[in-house]
Amino acid sequence: MSEGRFYLTTPLYYVNAKPHLGHAYTTIVADCLARASRQRGKEVFLLTGTDEHGEKVAQAARENGLEPQAFVDQTSELFKGLWARLGISYDHFIRTTDPAHRSTVQEALRRLEKQGALQRGTYTFWYCLPCETSWAAGDFPHPTQKVCPTCKRAVEEVTEEDFFLNLEAHRPWLKRHILEHPDFIQPQGRCNEVLALLEEPLPQLCITRPQERVSWGIEVPFSPAHVTYVWFDALLNYITALGWPEGKRFQELWVETGAIHLVGKDILRHHALYWPIILHALGVALPKKIFAHGWWLIKGEKMSKSKGNIVDPRDVVEAYGLDGFRYFLLREVPFGEDGIFSEEALRGRINADLANDLGNLVYRTLTMLEKHTQGGVPPGKLDPAVKAEISECQKKVSEGLERLAPNEALRALWVLINKSNLRIERSQPWTLAREGKRQALEELLYGLAEVLRALALLLWPFLPTTAESILKQLGLTTSLRDERLPDSLEKPIPPGTAIAKGQPLFPRLEP
Ligand code: MSP
Repeated sequence: MSEGRFYLTTPLYYVNAKPHLGHAYTTIVADCLARASRQRGKEVFLLTGTDEHGEKVAQAARENGLEPQAFVDQTSELFKGLWARLGISYDHFIRTTDPAHRSTVQEALRRLEKQGALQRGTYTFWYCLPCETSWAAGDFPHPTQKVCPTCKRAVEEVTEEDFFLNLEAHRPWLKRHILEHPDFIQPQGRCNEVLALLEEPLPQLCITRPQERVSWGIEVPFSPAHVTYVWFDALLNYITALGWPEGKRFQELWVETGAIHLVGKDILRHHALYWPIILHALGVALPKKIFAHGWWLIKGEKMSKSKGNIVDPRDVVEAYGLDGFRYFLLREVPFGEDGIFSEEALRGRINADLANDLGNLVYRTLTMLEKHTQGGVPPGKLDPAVKAEISECQKKVSEGLERLAPNEALRALWVLINKSNLRIERSQPWTLAREGKRQALEELLYGLAEVLRALALLLWPFLPTTAESILKQLGLTTSLRDERLPDSLEKPIPPGTAIAKGQPLFPRLEP
């Protein structure tokens, strides 16, 4: 995150059902990274949205007794509503049924057809409906067991006439590109998986579906009997949203800046193989980075609607508050690895990290300011040791975010929190007060007030509500949205600022 602009995307979520915790996860991570980048003075464009075509969505519409358009209008609102509840600061929400997206996908198809990149033919493949993904015979680890290599569910054999993109022709350059750009696919383990796929010939990518079998899709402009394959349509969103081919945004964000795509590991193949090849075939530059994160598991299984084990983010927020939820998702597992979701783990984090460490530091600092300095920030000069701790924390937070590792950034923040709690215990302010050591007491409290202000600034991308509350309780009235790093960290808290202590930030949860 060192250049002046930042273009970040989440996957487009299928609207066959309401959003669950897995969807909220990527979107919260994206929001955190976007807020942090804005705070560091970058021009950010965070794109999210919904993937609304295809067989799976059409089937869900039928089951709900609605026309597909009416159904997707309804479910895409559930995603928008949830993002509002989760404080997601996206810049644009694209729906693949947006007229501008549809016509741009058709333009892409026309271009590929015109340059002879598409072949027409009859092919047999095995289709996994939940993943909306086709597999070739060679993709199955056991040739007799035809189950989806990603989700392990039964696949359906399909033979039909479609249009195909020849992926194999692109294998050499894509392999070279990945090897020459070690950051292109992250984390490293996922990059190795893609490189392993590139050791074998690639199958054809079928990019259409016959109208008579799947009617809910974007019409193929040169073949009225076909609609566009939902993945081809959906992947293009990352550039249609920017006004490809001519848009100013496309030039600035895609060409000059380069996109960072956050995706789950189950859709890595689509993003790391199909998408670069589609772009290359269209003569468009590749994204800067594709980061594949892990899954949230419940009792060892991926959380998903079909397994009936989904957690509704609204229920968690209702029970534990928004920032408790955000904190757990961002802190519990390294971004990239699988995580186990359980209420017990969530409660443990809230009690240990938020109530005990952070909540306690804020509450006791404000209580001491109330008691010993008449509720005002005392005059003081910042202890160089405290100053150094704050700078070290700021540096580590930025480095963690740069590596797309929010959990590491949070760990650095907790080092500062824990050191500050320790300082209180070691300095024994109650003894300093009793013994009338006024200057030492004021210096300690001044340093703690500065730590709280720094925490508010640095925590804001992760826990926006908590950060605003810390700032308000410190008696500062600016909105963190308008603060810029590192400048805001350098401005000392004015002595005499009247604090406005409130309730503890995170009440301890009883067993
Ligand atoms: N519509 C496609 C993506 C198209 S992007 C151009 C799709 N949609 S999805 O709704 O099925 O999944 C969206 C994202 O949610 C994926 O990145 C997927 O990995 C993520 N998750 C779904 N369940 C998940 C968990 N249990 N845990 C973490 N993320 C998971 O795929």
